[in-house]
Amino acid sequence: MRNFTCVQDIGNLQDALKEAFEIKNDRFKYVELGRNKTLMMIFFNSSLRTRLSTQKAAMNLGMNVMVLDINQGAWKLETEREVIMDGDKPEHILEAIPVMGSYCDIIGVRAFAQFENRDEDYQEMIINQFIEHSGRPVFSMEAATRHPLQSFADLITIEEYKKTPRPKVVLTWAPHPRALPQAVPNSFAEWMNETDYDFVITHPQGYELDPAFVGKAKVEYDQMKAFEGADFIYAKNWAAYSGDNYGKILSTDRSWTVSDRQMAVTNNAYFMHCLPVRRNMIVTDDVIESAQSIVIPEAANREISATVVLKRLLEGLR
Ligand code: CP
Repeated sequence: MRNFTCVQDIGNLQDALKEAFEIKNDRFKYVELGRNKTLMMIFFNSSLRTRLSTQKAAMNLGMNVMVLDINQGAWKLETEREVIMDGDKPEHILEAIPVMGSYCDIIGVRAFAQFENRDEDYQEMIINQFIEHSGRPVFSMEAATRHPLQSFADLITIEEYKKTPRPKVVLTWAPHPRALPQAVPNSFAEWMNETDYDFVITHPQGYELDPAFVGKAKVEYDQMKAFEGADFIYAKNWAAYSGDNYGKILSTDRSWTVSDRQMAVTNNAYFMHCLPVRRNMIVTDDVIESAQSIVIPEAANREISATVVLKRLLEGLR
């Protein structure tokens, strides 16, 4: 594998899952693979899970790790061409990227949507510049439109917990006080659409995702109806995608907060969320603390998805 930014990069999902469970059974099996290889993790945005799980994955593979927080201690980077750099950004990303590439073997990048211009966000300018100019394999640690390491971990988790071959999986919008990117719901939909699960998306009017990500999913505007008979509830907030509303909050309707009321009509569904989660906005204390909440094993599987991806990127170096 040369780069990892979307579900297509992982290839056959059954093969990827088989590898994930092999690694989960013995996470140090490939500890020699990364000897004297260096991972550089570059964060334009904050992280807890991605930072720690990806670093642990690299350690599982025997790699050295360097971490750079662009906004804490590094020079501020200009990202546009043809800008007269007389402001507060002393370095251009087009020099910084190949310099960073010269110190490592593999690069992970986290760069969220800016919400200033939808086309620019959906062109994934930052991560694509790393792919073009670093000379190294690049993987997404959440980009503007996708979070594939999270989605792969979500898939591993569903496979571990599902009780039927074709579970009903519901992605539900839930309220949040800040405008959040569509990367997690886009990516989750993209990965679910590669399975044969019964996949439903529910959200208030105006929160339609990019049709390219919705794919073959059923969209149901009535949240209670969507939850009926569900085996997995995957909650997430996202800001509006459509037209002039791009990046805006259109609703803070707390009747969409996942509570016992909605969970009661499911098939004793498991509750999932990528974390961090705002309690009693996205989900009630009772639901996230219930026996059906699998948010912690879901987060733990981030180490497994990252180990599979780094292993494949290391194999691609040969
Ligand atoms: N789920 C996830 O990516 O968590 P972090 O933002 O803490 O990395």
